[in-house]
Amino acid sequence: MIYPRTTFIIVLLFFIISFTFACGGDNSSDRPSGQADSPEATLSEFELEHGIGPVTERIELSVEFDPDLVEKGRNIYEMKCEMCHNMEGRMVGPALGDIMERRSAEFVMNFILNPSGMVREHPVGQELLREYMTAMPFQNVQKDEARAIVEFLREYNELN
Ligand code: HEC
Repeated sequence: MIYPRTTFIIVLLFFIISFTFACGGDNSSDRPSGQADSPEATLSEFELEHGIGPVTERIELSVEFDPDLVEKGRNIYEMKCEMCHNMEGRMVGPALGDIMERRSAEFVMNFILNPSGMVREHPVGQELLREYMTAMPFQNVQKDEARAIVEFLREYNELN
C-alpha cells in the first residue's frame, strides 16, 4: 500500500524539480540586457546622419552653384530619376524638390549610390520603403554623377 504512494511522490518531485530547472535554464540563454538589435545600435554617427554608402566624409559645397555641374546633373536626373520622382508631390518615390532642405548632400549621394543598402540597413531608408513599398533600384550612377545631381537639386531648391 505504501509503496505506490512513495513512488508517486518521487515521480511528482522529479517533475517539479525538472520543471523548475527547465524554466530557470531558459533565462541563461537570453542575450544580455541592453543589447538591442535595432540598426541604430550598429551605425556610426556619420552613417545615421549622412547615410550608408561610398560617401563616408563630408563633401565641400560651394556657395555659388557650378552651372556646368547643374547641367550635367539635370541631364542625368531627366534620364534616370524623373520616371519615379516629381519635384512636388509623391510619385513612385518621394518628392525631391525640397530634398536638400530635408537631407544632407552626403545622404542624398549615398541614397543614389547605395539604395538597397539604405533601405535594408538605415532607419530612414527602412521607413521610406515601408511608406513607398517599392525599392529604389541602383541606376548605375557614378559618384561624380551623384555629386552633379546634388548640385542640380541644390539649385532647384534655391530657385523654387
Ligand atoms: C524605379 C523608381 C525609382 C527611380 C528610377 C529612382 N528612385 Fe529614388 N526613390 C524611389 C523610391 C520608391 C524611394 C523611397 C525609398 C524606397 O522605397 O526605396 C526613393 C528614394 C529616394 C531618395 C531618398 C528620399 C528621402 O526622402 O530621403 C532620394 C534622394 C532619391 N530617391 C533620389 C533618386 C535619384 C537622384 C534618382 C536618379 C538617379 C532616383 N532616385 C531614381 C524610387 C526611384
